[in-house]
Amino acid sequence: MLRTVLAVSMLSFTIPAFAESPGIEWISQMPAIANALGVKCNYCHSAKRGSGIPEPKKEIAKAMMAMTDEINTRLVAAVGKEAAQTTSIRCAYCHRGVAIPKPITDIVWQTTREKGVVAATDQYRELRKEFYGRNTYDFSDEPLAMLANQLASYKPDDAIALASLNLEFHPKSVNTLVSMSNALSRKHEDDDAIAMLEKAVSFEPENGVVRGRLEQLKGYRRK
Ligand code: HEC
Ligand code: HEC
Repeated sequence: MLRTVLAVSMLSFTIPAFAESPGIEWISQMPAIANALGVKCNYCHSAKRGSGIPEPKKEIAKAMMAMTDEINTRLVAAVGKEAAQTTSIRCAYCHRGVAIPKPITDIVWQTTREKGVVAATDQYRELRKEFYGRNTYDFSDEPLAMLANQLASYKPDDAIALASLNLEFHPKSVNTLVSMSNALSRKHEDDDAIAMLEKAVSFEPENGVVRGRLEQLKGYRRK
């Protein structure tokens, strides 16, 4: 009984929200869509008009348009503002210039797993060359430092390779030096592990966590 009442009252809420939602006129957005995905028109419009040949990317794009419309409708309902006052999500929010958007950590980790860390570092360099300065991928020191840190204990060689790559671009990245140190100490290369932390402390003398870790490593060393 309660459920029916709820369903009915939600329905009577939902319909006006849908009706008021301005919706995006997708046809007028064609150049913006191509730009958002970093593709040309024929990526989706791959067949001659009326040829009946399937256009699989266009079908996906149609579903993405419906998904984006739905997100926008839910956004309006979630923040409770007028549709015209609510930020509209566009393809570019997720796609940021590529057809298959993925965080750089996922890309590097997937390639490391499937093809090895050398292929992954090559790929990172290529992506950096192509996309640096755009907002497609985060090329700050954080993503690779984080990944190297996650891999330090069970894949220390991969962690060292990724941390070394990161240090080429961000030589003063304290988080990367700490990840590198963790991986080295995992391999019992304590002198090198200590050297990395000493470098990290030289860049951030006030960082108590790194200092503590350095003292701890030196303590092991003396035993
Ligand atoms: C990411 C896929 C994608 C890209 C890239 C794309 N389109 Fe489209 N386009 C579509 C979809 C999907 C529709 C159908 C929308 C609908 O039916 O609601 C469409 C519809 C159209 C239509 C209306 C006629 C028709 O075929 O349905 C024109 C004209 C059009 N697009 C032109 C362009 C041009 C010009 C470009 C390049 C600037 C472009 N499109 C890029 C997916 C795309
Ligand atoms: C909420 C995030 C999000 C929004 C908004 C979004 N997409 Fe996507 N889209 C994705 C993700 C993630 C993938 C990749 C999925 C996968 O294959 O791993 C994708 C894949 C696609 C693909 C398939 C690409 C390929 O080559 O396989 C097309 C085409 C596409 N989107 C078009 C669009 C268009 C056009 C819009 C705007 C109308 C849009 N998307 C909005 C997240 C989004």
